[in-house]
Amino acid sequence: MNTIQHHAIYAQRRSRVAAALGKESIAIIPTAPEHARNRDTGYLYRHDSYFYYLTGFTEPGATLLIESSGASTLFCQPKDTEREIWDGYRLGPDAAPEFLGLQAAHANTELATQLPKLLENRATVWYPFAIHPGLETQVDGWLKQVRARVRYGALCPESQRDVCSILDEMRLIKDAHEIDIMRKAAAISAKAHIRAMQISARMLKDGQDLREYHLDAELLHEFRRNGSEYPAYGSIVAGGANACVLHYQAGDAKINNGDLVLIDAGCELHGYASDITRTFPANGKFTAPQREMYEIVLAAQEAAVAATKPGMRFIDPHEAAVKVLAQGMLDTGLLTHDKHGSLQDVIENRAYFPYYMHRTGHWLGMDVHDCGGYNELSELDKTTERKDPLSGELIKNRPSRILREGMVLTIEPGIYIRPAAGVPEKFHNIGIRIEDDAVVNAKGCELMSRGVPVDVISLEQLMV
Ligand code: GLY
Ligand code: MN
Ligand code: MN
Repeated sequence: MNTIQHHAIYAQRRSRVAAALGKESIAIIPTAPEHARNRDTGYLYRHDSYFYYLTGFTEPGATLLIESSGASTLFCQPKDTEREIWDGYRLGPDAAPEFLGLQAAHANTELATQLPKLLENRATVWYPFAIHPGLETQVDGWLKQVRARVRYGALCPESQRDVCSILDEMRLIKDAHEIDIMRKAAAISAKAHIRAMQISARMLKDGQDLREYHLDAELLHEFRRNGSEYPAYGSIVAGGANACVLHYQAGDAKINNGDLVLIDAGCELHGYASDITRTFPANGKFTAPQREMYEIVLAAQEAAVAATKPGMRFIDPHEAAVKVLAQGMLDTGLLTHDKHGSLQDVIENRAYFPYYMHRTGHWLGMDVHDCGGYNELSELDKTTERKDPLSGELIKNRPSRILREGMVLTIEPGIYIRPAAGVPEKFHNIGIRIEDDAVVNAKGCELMSRGVPVDVISLEQLMV
């Protein structure tokens, strides 16, 4: 556990939360529950990101309380010799305050009796809304007990608020400690992508039966041997036509000589995600149509990277990428001027949508699709309405978030070409995405994931 040396970081974050709660208020932040997989076997445990952000503590069965006075209390698993023999070491409430830099700790078995007392005489109780099933009901139960004591002079909290509204804004801007871990996570994932590419080309050259799971195994191997705890999300390893399924997971499909392989995989390191996609020829050499499409996606990504800098808005890289992709679709005959009009028409009518149906990025952090709103908070009242050209729905637009130093986002344009009438056959079943992880800095952005290259020549050279 890396907690001890980072006491100060977590304590500072808790202080910022305490200061935002308002007078005489309290926040309740549980970690994630354990989940059964089947019968008596559990899924690999993963802590809750908000809880970890404030404690650095990875054991299950814990709840953090932060009071507006600044005091923090942890409820955690009690020491238990027998359970520790079976399940492993527990920090326990006696050692927790010093080890984690908290004011107090109790066994989690005391939560039910302590919470009503701790909620007494508070103005507001804060907790994460719609994250922990049953928490709202628990809070109701505790408040009911406080209300039963009102006739003895106790005050009952009058408002409940979502503590994520404070934490999301904090987590949106990564500090130096977080960026350092994210750089390391991205570097490990980059090495894993290279490893998978090289094994792919080698197995095909050797005439072996190459399956998606072979490459999935290489990714995992490289993640774990570099200290990553687990993949940040289910790795996508998609050969040939499977690349056109956006959330395809690595399966057992055969990868053929001449196929493209799309790998979208990133490790999680010490609670932080990386998220990289590369698309490469399984045998190490692009065909002409594959290369033609690849260069369009790459140019779109370059345009998006150029638009990722402080002062620009979250939507700007997407719009820059769409412009290049739409032009590429017109140039290659996926779309035609006769049918779809000018570049402007293609963009306004979203005619590119059958081939590019997702956004160009998302926030990245402890969660792969990290928290943080996509609208600029100070401009939430500036709404405009527009009619979506495809669905006809009326959409409320609010100004997109202004990019600031320390924000981390992915840049991931793609093109996915399913066979259809009018689509040039040489492009059928080509699915390409290129995804990198960018941290906004003073000048523009740093691509943390470029330990694995993106240009055609470098990719082919890697696989010789
Ligand atoms: N791997 C999920 C994504 O790229 O958003
Ligand atoms: Mn991805
Ligand atoms: Mn992504």
